[in-house]
Amino acid sequence: MTHDFDMVIFGGLGDLSLRKLLPALYRSEVAGHLPRNGRIFLISRALGEREEELTRIQEWLTNQLKSGESPTSHWPEFEQRLHLCAFDVTEDGEGWADLEQPLLEVDAAEGKRDRVFYLAMPPSLYGTICEQLSGRGLINETSRVVLEKPLGYDRTTANEINAQVAKYFPENSIFRIDHYLGKETVQNLLALRFANIMFEPLWNGNYIDHVQISLSEEVGLEGRTAFYDQAGAMRDMIQNHLLQLLCLVAMEPPHKLQADNIRTEKLKVLQALRPLQGYEVQSHTVRGQYVDGMMHGKAVPGYLDELGKDSQTETFVAIKAHIDNWRWSGVPFYFRTGKRLRQRCAEIVIQFKSLTHNVFDGASTQLSANRLVIRLQPDEGIEMTVMAKELNQLDMRLQEVPLNLNFAETFQNIHSDSYQRLLLNVIDNDLSLFAHRDEADLAWAWVDPIINAWNKCGTPVQAYEAGSWGPDASAALLHSDKRAWHNNGGSKRGKR
Ligand code: BG6
Repeated sequence: MTHDFDMVIFGGLGDLSLRKLLPALYRSEVAGHLPRNGRIFLISRALGEREEELTRIQEWLTNQLKSGESPTSHWPEFEQRLHLCAFDVTEDGEGWADLEQPLLEVDAAEGKRDRVFYLAMPPSLYGTICEQLSGRGLINETSRVVLEKPLGYDRTTANEINAQVAKYFPENSIFRIDHYLGKETVQNLLALRFANIMFEPLWNGNYIDHVQISLSEEVGLEGRTAFYDQAGAMRDMIQNHLLQLLCLVAMEPPHKLQADNIRTEKLKVLQALRPLQGYEVQSHTVRGQYVDGMMHGKAVPGYLDELGKDSQTETFVAIKAHIDNWRWSGVPFYFRTGKRLRQRCAEIVIQFKSLTHNVFDGASTQLSANRLVIRLQPDEGIEMTVMAKELNQLDMRLQEVPLNLNFAETFQNIHSDSYQRLLLNVIDNDLSLFAHRDEADLAWAWVDPIINAWNKCGTPVQAYEAGSWGPDASAALLHSDKRAWHNNGGSKRGKR
């Protein structure tokens, strides 16, 4: 990285900043990726003494960094970059001067410096912050803004927020961050598809039986009760992370791996995603909510106990979807996400079709169809299952065996901090891993009618035990198609 920059984080000492952004920036410091004079401004409504706040930041770093990473080795350099400013963004007070002055001074001294505004605050404040920045002359032609999800509550509110920000920033300066797109394996999915000759010819409905995308979490509410109960799994995970992954799996090869080309192809997928309406919402979707159960031998409370009130918010969603285009005609896409599931696991499963003819007639084993599993977490890797002959057998006995690529073993020093990668992309002005406004809009356009149909029909959330794989109806969604979730240890029935 050559040019200097200033990064201004609104909500600079909030949860996201302490847990994700500052550790990611610190890692970039350690890796030598931050330009020498780059400054980081942390804006917070109230601040203690500088030393006190720096100690707090360092404590968070210590908690967040992995073993083998030192929170002290590059602290002196990192600390010098941090500028703490206390003011309320909703007030027109003098506090803004603490930000304004150093930014404008550097502009006057060295010409316009690249500037990144990271809005790690509720989206209802985005308009106000942008208006203030503009009114104070802090937005220049190299400025960009980073917007955190959830961007709105539905299509209408998302459009309102996008429209407010668009008054002050052109679309090519707006970075809608989705940290799933910064995960190593997601980019490896692109490498797998577009840097190898053998997958793309098979990547269609002639050879693929179905696709599964599962984002299962072990964690529960993690203290985010108010936010989560308003959002639910559909808005929190499906509208953004899961549909973004779907786009990368299903899109046509872009002309070049550049932002505009990728975005164009992703949009086509979302346009072709078949809307679920009326009866289909009931038959193609499952919404669940966890009740108390056991996880790793420990009793955990149910959602309502964690929340402390009654609620119909879903903590689990499973969906059967279709993409109506030539490539994917007739191929179901099964989505699943949930909290308090048995295992933390994010994976994309490409299930190929069975061979139409078995030449190994009489062999003692049936042929299983090939399967490609792209694992995003916990252990990132790609696994292909193929049929092979069992060793030391005289007859032709076949067995399904994995061809396994484990990234941690193959690539030493694997760095899998998605925020680190995405923040560096923002600093480098590279939009290729960020969603365009139209993508977010189409994703809402697909999700909204499902949520509305649930509400209109009063579709109840189905109970599942914490530590299970979700409600029974989730397994049934695939069973009725004579299929099963990959990596599913079987579900435990929940009761409410
Ligand atoms: C966030 C959601 O976007 O992603 C959280 O708001 C969720 O509810 C988190 O827990 C999952 O991210 P990861 O990287 O831990 O799988």
